[in-house]
Amino acid sequence: MQIDILTLFPNMFEGPFSESIIKRGQEKGIVKIDMHNIRDYSTSKQKSVDEYAFGGGAGMVMQIEPIDLCIQKLKEQRTYDEIIYLSPDGELFDQKMANHLSTKKNLLFLCGHYKGVDERVREHLITKEISIGDYVLTGGELATAVIVDAIVRLIPGVLNDETSALSDSFQDNLISPPVYTRPADYKGWKVPEILLSGHQAKIEEWKNEQSVERTKQRRPNLLK
Ligand code: ADE
Repeated sequence: MQIDILTLFPNMFEGPFSESIIKRGQEKGIVKIDMHNIRDYSTSKQKSVDEYAFGGGAGMVMQIEPIDLCIQKLKEQRTYDEIIYLSPDGELFDQKMANHLSTKKNLLFLCGHYKGVDERVREHLITKEISIGDYVLTGGELATAVIVDAIVRLIPGVLNDETSALSDSFQDNLISPPVYTRPADYKGWKVPEILLSGHQAKIEEWKNEQSVERTKQRRPNLLK
């Protein structure tokens, strides 16, 4: 998978993409993630990328030209499955959308900042708008990092244990059962007996019951 990220703040991705599973996915050549600084595509002398809004109102608006120039240049190199804009008013991101996006070949993420982008970017250049929740972030960068993390780990070969993504919370609309490891007794806080029993079928049954029970208690909306 090729992921292109258009941003004014490429340094914001240094942490999340240079550690652990996402790092490994890149090292294995399964995913390639490239940052593109929108400011590099500004045609103004001062390299400006934003302006006051027509009609007034607080906050700056990101201009269409540098974004369009950057997207057009990238489109010469590949065909995108989706050109995604991160926005609190986009479609709410969930595991189903992560599964769907993880099957794609080329994805582009556009990160807005300030008051957002000129509406014509959304009308003419974007194919999908995504929100990661009903709250407002300072920009699309952290939302992009969350989405990229959720989809890259689903690409076959990225996780070492191929089955582990399948048993994630939400994959079957259930949240995961609790997990325990050594020691079996810590300060008198004991691991459930069944997990030490060696009866694999019974253990699976217990895990399933726990999943259903937890989902009922914590996220009943998932069972509807
Ligand atoms: N940009 C600002 N807030 C956001 C959110 N909640 N989701 C996606 N992009 C955003």
